[in-house]
Amino acid sequence: MFKLIWARGALRLPSALVVSLLLLSGCGEKPTPKVEDFLVRHWSEPIPPQGKPPAAFSTLEASLSPQVCGQCHVEQYAGWQASLHSKAMGPGLRWQLKLMNQEQANRCLRCHAPLAEQKALLALEHGWANAPKYPPPDFVSPDLGHQGLVCAACHVRGHQRFGPPPRGETIEGAPHGGFTVSTAFEDSRFCAHCHQFPDDGPRLAGKLQEDTYRQWLASPYAMEGAGKKTCQTCHMPDRKHAWRGIHDPEMTRRAVDVSLKLVSLGGGRYEALANVRNSGAGHHFPTYMVPKVELAFYRRDSNGATHELGRHIIGWQVDTPIKQEIADTRIPADEARDFRQLFTASGTDWRVEMVMRVFPAEHYERIYRNSLSQADQLPPAVIPLLRRALADAVEARYELVRLEAGVER
Ligand code: HEC
Ligand code: HEC
Ligand code: HEC
Ligand code: HEC
Ligand code: HEC
Repeated sequence: MFKLIWARGALRLPSALVVSLLLLSGCGEKPTPKVEDFLVRHWSEPIPPQGKPPAAFSTLEASLSPQVCGQCHVEQYAGWQASLHSKAMGPGLRWQLKLMNQEQANRCLRCHAPLAEQKALLALEHGWANAPKYPPPDFVSPDLGHQGLVCAACHVRGHQRFGPPPRGETIEGAPHGGFTVSTAFEDSRFCAHCHQFPDDGPRLAGKLQEDTYRQWLASPYAMEGAGKKTCQTCHMPDRKHAWRGIHDPEMTRRAVDVSLKLVSLGGGRYEALANVRNSGAGHHFPTYMVPKVELAFYRRDSNGATHELGRHIIGWQVDTPIKQEIADTRIPADEARDFRQLFTASGTDWRVEMVMRVFPAEHYERIYRNSLSQADQLPPAVIPLLRRALADAVEARYELVRLEAGVER
């Protein structure tokens, strides 16, 4: 069990990291360590406290606060702030933390607020046993614990900056003692630490509950060559800190090609056939069990009357407590799936419409509703957060595509 200590001098770094820092900061040829080796250290579990900042660092250079990084790295800060990485400690997580002990909470924080300094602040807030005895030092801003996946979680270890190979000239005497380069930042495995459960992680129906990296690895995008697209190619184009995903309508529209066909089967019987191709996501569409995409079919008569014909779901449908799989209709990268709606109709004075709607947090909506229905069993402090989480989840829904088809005359 690690100790929550704010600062104990740079020697709290694991010795392997110290050795590699020395190697990397040598001049001349950069002895770039193998990506795997770098990542094992970089994402060591848990991430050790940063320790005392080097004496030469100004307050600005020492700070772990994203706003402070943003004073110099303006673009990355703006992108990050608009992304879900900055909201990884939202109400959806915080109400659950209030019901957990420290050990349970740390299992979530490993991905949602991974720095030791963030865990220490949260331990103070929740009165957990390992809470530090002293207030945080200057380089830890009091709100760091609620800021989710901060810049420093991906870029700073032992107050040393790590980043991808620079694209232009580097500046002599750069702030924060310059930075150490690793190609690991350009590699999909960098993201796998949080977007892929290990083999012994939780499964349902034999499938890992979070399997994005493996889905990508099995896709055409992982093949070496001109067509190779990493997580960063699609989610950080031009190194933008955007990380748009299924919460973003424009990004999700790029993921699918949809067509609608009406087939007459004779005798007033018809089939509306929607074909959905995952043409733009580098993993299943959608990648895991939380989001759902609904296909709803309607018949619209010329007099304005609308009849719902039926609904279909794209997604990994599971029951609320995640004990049982209901169906798995996710579409693997570069594959397609047909959705057929049979119906009967007389005459030809009508059209069929298919509306695709996205519920980015469908499974959480159910969990939140279920918990609110037992609100009397929850501590009162939890309720406002839970309500907020549900409202955010409902608000995230949007319409993706609307197509129509008529009988050919
Ligand atoms: C989830 C991890 C993650 C977070 C959080 C993150 N970054 Fe990055 N950052 C990366 C990766 C990965 C790259 C390299 C992307 C690539 O090579 O395509 C990168 C690249 C950079 C670069 C080099 C940009 C360039 O154009 O060469 C800077 C500077 C940077 N990040 C600063 C920041 C700052 C400042 C923040 C917070 C506001 C931040 N990062 C948050 C992962 C992250
Ligand atoms: C330290 C853990 C961590 C790392 C590393 C990480 N992520 Fe994330 N990522 C998260 C968490 C947690 C969320 C969810 C935030 C929330 O919604 O509360 C998330 C959300 C996202 C989303 C938004 C999904 C949506 O629903 O719209 C995308 C896209 C994403 N990450 C891509 C990446 C990519 C690409 C990388 C690698 C460059 C990466 N992440 C690295 C933890 C991580
Ligand atoms: C292996 C990394 C990882 C761990 C561990 C993890 N999460 Fe997440 N979590 C994610 C990612 C990635 C997403 C975003 C996926 C997306 O939005 O598509 C996410 C999204 C969420 C969301 C929805 C977004 C939000 O902020 O409302 C909640 C709630 C959540 N996680 C709660 C938890 C809880 C509670 C735990 C601990 C029991 C936990 N997570 C453990 C990676 C992780
Ligand atoms: C006082 C201004 C300043 C502050 C504050 C600052 N940086 Fe930097 N940082 C720079 C400059 C300038 C460079 C570019 C050095 C170069 O190109 O040689 C840089 C380089 C980097 C790089 C390397 C980019 C690459 O090409 O790989 C990363 C990563 C980085 N900073 C992250 C951060 C993070 C994270 C923070 C906050 C914890 C931060 N910086 C705070 C000025 C700053
Ligand atoms: C070819 C482009 C492409 C690649 C490569 C790619 N993604 Fe995506 N990703 C998308 C698009 C488009 C979406 C939005 C549609 C969707 O949710 O599938 C998305 C959605 C997501 C989401 C939102 C959650 C969800 O349920 O869909 C996460 C998280 C994510 N990607 C992470 C990753 C990670 C991690 C990698 C690398 C292992 C990666 N992506 C590789 C294009 C890509």
